[in-house]
Amino acid sequence: MKNILITGGAGYLGSVLSELLVNEGHDVTVLDNLMYNQNSLLHLFHKKNFHFIYGDVREEKLLRSILPKFDFIIPLAAIVGAGASEKHPETTNAINYQAIALINRLREENQKIIFPTTNSGYGTKTGDVFCTEETPLEPISVYGVTKVEAERELLKSNNVITLRFATCFGFSPRMRLDLLVNNFVYKAIRDGYIVLFEKHFKRNYLHVRDAARCFEFCIENFDAMKNEPYNVGLEDANLSKEELSWKIKEILKKHGKDFHIQESEIGKDPDKRNYIVSNKKIMAKGFRCQYSLEDGIEELIKGYAMLYDRHYTNF
Ligand SMILES: NC(=O)c1ccc[n+]([C@@H]2O[C@H](COP(=O)([O-])OP(=O)(O)OC[C@H]3O[C@@H](n4cnc5c(N)ncnc54)[C@H](O)[C@@H]3O)[C@@H](O)[C@H]2O)c1
Repeated sequence: MKNILITGGAGYLGSVLSELLVNEGHDVTVLDNLMYNQNSLLHLFHKKNFHFIYGDVREEKLLRSILPKFDFIIPLAAIVGAGASEKHPETTNAINYQAIALINRLREENQKIIFPTTNSGYGTKTGDVFCTEETPLEPISVYGVTKVEAERELLKSNNVITLRFATCFGFSPRMRLDLLVNNFVYKAIRDGYIVLFEKHFKRNYLHVRDAARCFEFCIENFDAMKNEPYNVGLEDANLSKEELSWKIKEILKKHGKDFHIQESEIGKDPDKRNYIVSNKKIMAKGFRCQYSLEDGIEELIKGYAMLYDRHYTNF
């Protein structure tokens, strides 16, 4: 069993990953500044192999004092998403890039890093050609640029795996409604309509639990995978936003519900994401997703019965 540090482990992906690795028997420490006031890890404190440090990844003194004991470092802490990054560009650069470079500098070479980045850096492609790990990354948003710079920095050194994740979906103790699938299903159910802009733009998708499982897979197969980037997403889910909307409609209909799809000229994706992705490289290493897009949509439909803010509405 390994000693693992997860920075940003209280986030959407981190809270699912922390639970998975704790349940596998690893000794897991989360370092997080709880920037969303989230209490997403309360269910793990009864486990002796779970530890939490309230702190900031930009604090060099703190990092120096805690880093030495870990076999694996999984740096998730970030300002995540184009929208958030454009609001706070300097902070985003400090957390998403500089803090990663700092961790890389401070760790011993035998301490292994598994770093998640985004495949939205492939964004400006046409949507016709499959992007592989060889396809040049050309991110536009501050988020995309800082993640790609951090990945480049890490891949210059030894004992690193980078995972270029598709857009995640599904429930997490720190839920995010700004992710595309989560957002569309929520709007379809709550508002009864989805407004679609750039409807032909294609994206790739991945269940948050498969993203977490992928880190575990990398821990187990580290030597066979190290020092390379890997795309990670559902091989059969390279869907345009329009196709995604129709899939949600088809599944909701089975539940006796419907919603309206409204097309709009207004609205632009900050990373101009229109790309399809090949996930063959990680599949060749043996990784398989367990949750389909349909599984995730069904899960969200069920779960949104619980996740509804009734504070400011009468119905
Ligand atoms: N969710 C996705 O679809 C997706 C896709 C690709 C890559 N990723 C990557 O996965 C990681 C996690 O994303 P997420 O969706 O869980 O986002 P999130 O916003 O839910 O989680 C980020 C976490 O980092 C913490 N954090 C932020 N700044 C910090 C700081 N200075 N010090 C300590 N903690 C800090 C936050 O409190 C939060 O818990 C990110 O690195 C992101 O780039 C996510």
